Amino acid sequence: MCGIVGYIGHRNAVPILVKGLEHLEYRGYDSAGIACLNLEKENLFIKKEKGKLSELKRELEKHPAYAQIGIGHTRWATHGEPSKLNAHPHVDDKSKIILVHNGIIENHSDLKRELQAKGHRFFSGTDTEVAVNLIASYYKKNNFVEAFRKAISRLQGFYAFVALDKSDPDTLYVFKRSNPLVIGLGKGENFVASDTPALLPFTSDVVFLEDDEYAVLTKDKVKIFSLATGRMIKRHSTRIKWNMAQAQKGGYPHFMLKEIYEQPTVLQEAFNRITNKEDVIRFENMTPRIENRLRKIRKVFMVSCGTAYHAGLTGCLWMEQNAGIPSEARVSSEFRYQKPIVTKNDLVILITQSGETADTLAALREAKTHGAMTLAVVNVLGSTIAREADYTIYTHAGPEIGVASTKAYTAQLVTLVFLSLYMARIKKTLSSRQIAGYLDSIRKLPKACSKALKQSTAIINCAKHQYRRHSFLYIGRGVNFPVALEGALKLKEISYAHAHGYAAGEMKHGPIALIDKNQPVICIAPHSKTRDKMLSNVEEIRARKGIVIAIGTENDKELKKISSYFIPVPKVDESLSAIIAVIPLQLFAYHVAVLNRRDVDQPRNLAKSVTVE
Ligand code: AGP
Repeated sequence: MCGIVGYIGHRNAVPILVKGLEHLEYRGYDSAGIACLNLEKENLFIKKEKGKLSELKRELEKHPAYAQIGIGHTRWATHGEPSKLNAHPHVDDKSKIILVHNGIIENHSDLKRELQAKGHRFFSGTDTEVAVNLIASYYKKNNFVEAFRKAISRLQGFYAFVALDKSDPDTLYVFKRSNPLVIGLGKGENFVASDTPALLPFTSDVVFLEDDEYAVLTKDKVKIFSLATGRMIKRHSTRIKWNMAQAQKGGYPHFMLKEIYEQPTVLQEAFNRITNKEDVIRFENMTPRIENRLRKIRKVFMVSCGTAYHAGLTGCLWMEQNAGIPSEARVSSEFRYQKPIVTKNDLVILITQSGETADTLAALREAKTHGAMTLAVVNVLGSTIAREADYTIYTHAGPEIGVASTKAYTAQLVTLVFLSLYMARIKKTLSSRQIAGYLDSIRKLPKACSKALKQSTAIINCAKHQYRRHSFLYIGRGVNFPVALEGALKLKEISYAHAHGYAAGEMKHGPIALIDKNQPVICIAPHSKTRDKMLSNVEEIRARKGIVIAIGTENDKELKKISSYFIPVPKVDESLSAIIAVIPLQLFAYHVAVLNRRDVDQPRNLAKSVTVE
C-alpha cells in the first residue's frame, strides 16, 4: 500500500515522478504529492493534493517546476485521514529532511511523545512525520547517513523510505524493511520505486533491495549497504522482461477488462512454458534437491489472501485428488497467528500476485520457523516472497494493474493444477498416461477461455437488468465452490454491492431465507458430478421466486429452461471447469461496476498490494 518513487539525474524530475506515480496509483489513491530540490535556486518545491493523482497533475500544470532530483508518493491512508495535510512527502519541523514512506511505524506514538518533549512540532496525523522528525533529531554535521541509520534502528514496524536531505541536493537515500523497493539503473540518472512498472518507462535494468538494506543514489552511482554492519553490498542488476505495452491499457477502457481478455494468452503461455513435447511438466529452476524434498512431503498448506486464497482452495482440491496429499487452504492473516501445526515434512505454498502481501509474507516466515519447506507461487518478479521462499514458481501473467485480480487468478489456478500433476508424478499417484490425459484437457483451456469471453453480450444484458440490486448470492459445488467465493469478491470489490459466496449445499442451512423475487443468485453449474444437485438448488430458488443467473455448459437446455438468465460456457474436464466458469463472473462484475459508474481499476478503500497488516 502506498507507492513511492524517486529520481536523480539530468532530466526534469517532475514528469518522471508523475509518470512513475501513474504506474503506482494502484497501490493507493487517496492523495498524492511530490517534493523536488531545485539545484540552481537551492529551494524545496512541494506539491500535494487530496484525491487521485489527476488532482496533483492539475496543480502541477498550474505551477510547473523544474528540478533534477525529487521524490513522490501516492497514498493509501493508515495513520491520519486522507487529506492534503496528511499527504506525503513530509518534512521535519525545520524543513531540512523530506521523506516519503510506505508501511507503518508501529511505535510512532511513543516516539512522537519523546520528540514533542524535545520541542519538535507536528502538524499531520501521520506516522511518517514522526519518522522524518526522528531522522532530523539525529542529524548532525551534515551526516545524513548516520542520522538515517540511527533513526531506522529505533523505528519499529515494516516500511520503505525514500528521503532527501535539503543541504545535499545530489543524493537520494532509500531504505527497505519488508515493504518493496526497486532501484532502476539509467545512464547519468537513477530511479527508485515501489514496483517495477513505475520504472519500465525509463529503464529495464533494476536492482532489488533486500530487507534492512539502505542505498545511496547519485546520478552516476548506486551504493547499497547493510544497515546492521554499514558495509557495502555488491548486487547484480536484473533485466525485467515485461514491456511497456503490457503495463498500458492498449485500447481497453479499463485495465481490468484488458486483463480479463488476456487470460487465453496467459493460459497458453503457461502451457507452453511448463510442458514439453514429451508431456513432461517442468518448472524453472527446479533442482534434484528440491524435487527430493518435495517427494517426501506429507501435507500441504496453501496460504494466501483474497483472490489468491480462492485459488488456494481449488489448488488444495487438485493436490488431494491428483497427488493424494492431504491439503489445507488457510487465510494468511489467520495462519500467522494460529500457531499452526506445521512440521518439516510439510510444504507451505504461498500464493500471491504481488509477492508483497504483509500477512502472506508473515505466514511464510512463520512456516520457516517450523522447518517446513516453503514454495511461493508469485507473479511479480523479484518480490519479497519470491525471494524468501525456498522455491518459487512464477505465474508470468504479466503486470496486473487493475485492483481486482483476474488474469493473475487464472494463472495461479493453472500453475497449481500443474503443480498437483508434478507432485502426482513424483509421488507416483497418477500414471504417465493419466497425466498425459490430464494435460490434453489443460491444452484445451485457452480455446475454451476465448469462447467463454465471447458471451459478453449475454452478460451485459443480464448486468443491465440487475446492476441496481444491492445484494447478490453466488453458489457452486466442488471446484466451483471457490469460484462462487471469487465471483462474489469480484462483484463486491468493484461494484460495492453486497455479494456472498456459498457452497450450494449450504443453502438450506440459512441463506435460502434470503430468497425472494428481488434476490439474484448466481448459480455456477457446469457439467459435473454435482450438476444435478445444482439443478435442485436452482429449482428451490425458483420456487421462492428468486432470480437465477446460471453459468452452465453450453448445451445444457434443462438448466437454461429453468434459469432467468443463462450464460453458457464451453465444456471442459470437470476438475478444470473452475478456470473457465470464473470468466463470466469477472465480466459480470466488471459490467455491473461500469453501469454503476464505479472506478473499476481503483475501487474505493482498496489498494492492489496490501503491504500492511
Ligand atoms: C483481488 O481482486 C483482490 N484485490 C485481493 O483480494 C488480492 O487478491 C489479495 O489482496 C491478495 O493479493 P496478493 O495476491 O498480491 O497477495
